[in-house]
Formats: sequence, structure tokens, C-alpha cells
Amino acid sequence: MQRACISESQPWHLHVVCFIGFLSLLRLLFIPLLKWFIIRFLLTNPKRLKRYGSWAMVTGATEGIGRAFAYELAKHGLNLILVSRNLSKLEYVSDDFQQEFPHIKIKIIPFDFSSVEKKCVEGGYGAIEEGIKGLEVGILINNVGITYPRAMFFHEVDQLTWTKILRVNLEATTWVTRSLIGPMLHRRRGAIVNISSGAAVVVPSHPLYAIYAATKAYVDALSRSLHVEYKQFGIDVQCQVPLYVATRMVSEVAAIDKPSLFVPSPEVYAKAAVEQIGIGSRCSPFWAHSLQWFLVGLVPDNLVDTWRLSIGLRRRS
Ligand SMILES: NC(=O)c1ccc[n+]([C@@H]2O[C@H](COP(=O)([O-])OP(=O)(O)OC[C@H]3O[C@@H](n4cnc5c(N)ncnc54)[C@H](OP(=O)(O)O)[C@@H]3O)[C@@H](O)[C@H]2O)c1
Repeated sequence: MQRACISESQPWHLHVVCFIGFLSLLRLLFIPLLKWFIIRFLLTNPKRLKRYGSWAMVTGATEGIGRAFAYELAKHGLNLILVSRNLSKLEYVSDDFQQEFPHIKIKIIPFDFSSVEKKCVEGGYGAIEEGIKGLEVGILINNVGITYPRAMFFHEVDQLTWTKILRVNLEATTWVTRSLIGPMLHRRRGAIVNISSGAAVVVPSHPLYAIYAATKAYVDALSRSLHVEYKQFGIDVQCQVPLYVATRMVSEVAAIDKPSLFVPSPEVYAKAAVEQIGIGSRCSPFWAHSLQWFLVGLVPDNLVDTWRLSIGLRRRS
């Protein structure tokens, strides 16, 4: 008799659990879908970005995500300031864009963010500050970023390599933001996009790329606090979290040579990324990256750690 009562009550409990599970799943799927719909159909106004100012600056602009970002911003009619190491690559990209978008202005600033001589001195970033003088830079894309030449244990990374990574990934983001945020504050408008990485935000660890992941965690933490500090002054600071995008960097570290469903081309990534500028403090703009982020969140951290370590070791060997 008692046993019969228990077995009758089981389905009732099970229904409640299933119902709660169903509601949680609906919430998890519905909110991103609603967000996507609002961004895609209500907030995507071609003039929206120009309201921040008529110029946009992109660091690391001659290749990969940076170049694609610059191209998308040019499509929105913004004048461009392109910053990278290599003058001839900058001139090539600038000529290319100018032919396609004759109505915009393009300025190039050759600058090596990893250069030892420019280390930490006030005025080390003078060339950038000089380059933006008198220009209404409304959008800054802090894109430049580098990683190890191959998977390595922490103790194997030589000092020059890790110093360059810290300079490019941490100092450049911090300095360029410092240089541009003052004038934005003065005008009470601006948008700053800092490119972090799934390596620091989506997965719990990134073994054999520890210093790269740590610098990208800094970018994430910096952006989230700046978002809160400067929202009240009309400046939208956002951290974007790409997962794999088919660029030179990713072909070197992950041997991914072409785009696929989950690995967009830089152009596809940048199109989604530009649509999200100014919308929220942190996002992974490409839909399949968001989906992967969601799925990784369902797996226990120690399983993801083990999986990431095995990938790192395979790449190292
Ligand atoms: N690709 C991915 O899967 C992925 C995933 C997550 C996050 N990210 C992040 O996205 C950003 C862009 O990555 P990407 O894959 O597009 O990189 P990429 O293809 O290697 O392009 C890097 C760009 O930065 C410039 N650059 C490199 N070192 C520089 C230096 N010392 N000073 C000035 N410019 C320099 C390069 O131009 P020059 O050679 O002309 O200087 C190039 O234009 C990085 O911050 C990266 O960490 C990428």
C-alpha cells in the first residue's frame, strides 16, 4: 500500500522537475533569441555608429579581425584611423579601402605596440596621440593582440615573447584607451570595443597558452569596470569575446585554415561584431560562438580543463 503511494507520487515530482527544466531551457534559449531579434531588427540603424563621432580607430588593422572591422566601419561611412606595425601593409589596405569607399577619409599610423623602446614611458604613445589630434574619434576598436608562436608550458616561454605579449595585449589596450577616452569624455559620447577571447572567458583554463589567456582576462575585467564607470558619461565600453575566427593567428595556433559553421571568416565575424557595438557590456557577437559558450557552460570545469590540456599537449607535440 505504502509502496503504491510512493510510486504514484513519483510522476508528480518528475513533472515539476521537467516543467522547471523546460522553463530554464526556454529562458536560456529565448533571451538570446530575443536579444538577437532586437539587435538585428530594431537597433541596426545605419546612422547609429556615426552618432559617436565621424572617425573610428582600429588597432591591428591590416589583417584578420581588425581589417574586417575597419572594412565594416567604412561601410557605415566612418572615417578610419588604421594602426599596425607595417607601413606598406597599412598603405595597401588604405588604398584598397579608398578605392571602394572614396567618400571616407583614411589615416594610417604605423606603430609597433611590442617595441621595447616605447616601453611604459609617458609619451611612448605620442605617435598615436599626435595622430588623433583634432579628429573626432567616436569609436575605438582595441583589436591588436598576439599569442605564443606554439603551445608551450609557462616555464618554456622566453622573456622576450611574454614581454611582447604583455605589451601588446595589456599595455596597448590600456594606453590607447587612456589616450582616446579623455576627448570622448569631453564630448560625452564614444564607443570602445576591447577584444578579449573565449580562451579567458568561455573556457575555465587555456593550458599551454596561460599568459595569452591571462592577458585576455585582464581585457575582460578592465572593460567591465570601465563600462560601469563611463556609461554615465555617454561612453559605451564593451568587451567582445570571439572564439575561433579563421585568421592567420588561428591558422598558426590551431591549424584552422578555412572558415566553417563554427569558425567564421573575419568578415562574417566583423559584420556581427559591428552590429553589437554599444549594446551591452560583454558579448560574443557571432551566433555560433554564443551557442558554443552556452554548451561549454553545461560541462563541468574539470572535464573542460582535461579536454583543453589534451588539445594543448597535442599541439605542443
Ligand atoms: N582569430 C581568433 O580566433 C581569435 C579568437 C579570440 C580572440 N582573438 C583576438 O582578436 C584579435 C585579432 O586577432 P586576429 O586573429 O585577427 O590576429 P591576426 O590575424 O594575427 O592579425 C593581427 C593584426 O595585428 C597587427 N599587429 C600584430 N602585432 C602588432 C604589433 N606589435 N603592433 C601593431 N600591430 C600589430 C597585425 O598587423 P602587422 O603585421 O601589419 O603589424 C595584424 O593586422 C586579437 O586580439 C586576438 O587575441 C582572435
